[in-house]
Amino acid sequence: MTSAIKCENVLVAYGDLQVLRGVSFDITAGQGVVLLGANGCGKSTLMRSLNGLEKLQSGSICIHGDDLTKASGRQLRQIRRGMGYVFQQFNLVPQLSAFQNVLLGAMGRHRLGLLSCLSLTASAEERGKALYCLERVGMADRAMHRPSELSGGQQQRVAIARMLMQAPKLVVADEPIASLDPKAGREVLDILWRIVREEGLSMLCTLHQLDFAQEYADRIIGLKAGRVEIDAAITNTNIDQLNALYSGMTRVDAMPTEGVIA
Ligand SMILES: Nc1ncnc2c1ncn2[C@@H]1O[C@H](COP(=O)(O)OP(=O)(O)OP(=O)(O)O)[C@@H](O)[C@H]1O
Ligand SMILES: [Mg+2]
Repeated sequence: MTSAIKCENVLVAYGDLQVLRGVSFDITAGQGVVLLGANGCGKSTLMRSLNGLEKLQSGSICIHGDDLTKASGRQLRQIRRGMGYVFQQFNLVPQLSAFQNVLLGAMGRHRLGLLSCLSLTASAEERGKALYCLERVGMADRAMHRPSELSGGQQQRVAIARMLMQAPKLVVADEPIASLDPKAGREVLDILWRIVREEGLSMLCTLHQLDFAQEYADRIIGLKAGRVEIDAAITNTNIDQLNALYSGMTRVDAMPTEGVIA
């Protein structure tokens, strides 16, 4: 089985603050994994580390077998092209329509120029694909609206369409529903996981809702104060274990730095 994300003893620090304290796991291609953990335990730091933006103190991260720590600039760009990010704050370009934002997803894949992404010179094929991606998330009828004219749930659906347009093999979603109300959050999560399953993608998705994690994930990775506390198939976890991630010393900034195994 091929590996989508393999982390081996990853250590990341910000100055004196040791955040990731020896994180290791291996996510198989096609797996949908939910990353759980309390505020400040290091989830977003780990997510950012996956695209080579954080400098590792030690350890390694391989994405589809390519070692980020050894990749050249060109290789890094190629690895990043195969990864789709979904963020809590959607990160749409406010001046562009939903349709143009989705076209942006093809920028890395086909080296489309900015003019093409603004749909001024995009090919009929790319425009058709962008519309199809909006259809997949139920947003085709809002294609010409700007983000400010859309609700949070609708904006996140456009962001998912942009990710789909990028045609990644791996999706990294950091709290994709944290800014949404329960109904919109459920709709967005349904769409995101449906697309991941239908396209056969791998996903690492952070959530704060344990019930959603149990419902959607194949597997749970639980972080506590910068260390992997749980790594198990969803069928081998119970709610008490998951709840324990949120009690005691959970934040990395509440922990002493000593005791890290490099
Ligand atoms: N760029 C940075 N510079 C300095 N410290 C940082 C930086 N990014 C994160 N931290 C610190 O690292 C720790 C872990 O933060 P991180 O954002 O990874 O946690 P998290 O698990 O994503 O939390 P949340 O659930 O609130 O999103 C925190 O103490 C945070 O203040
Ligand atoms: Mg975070």
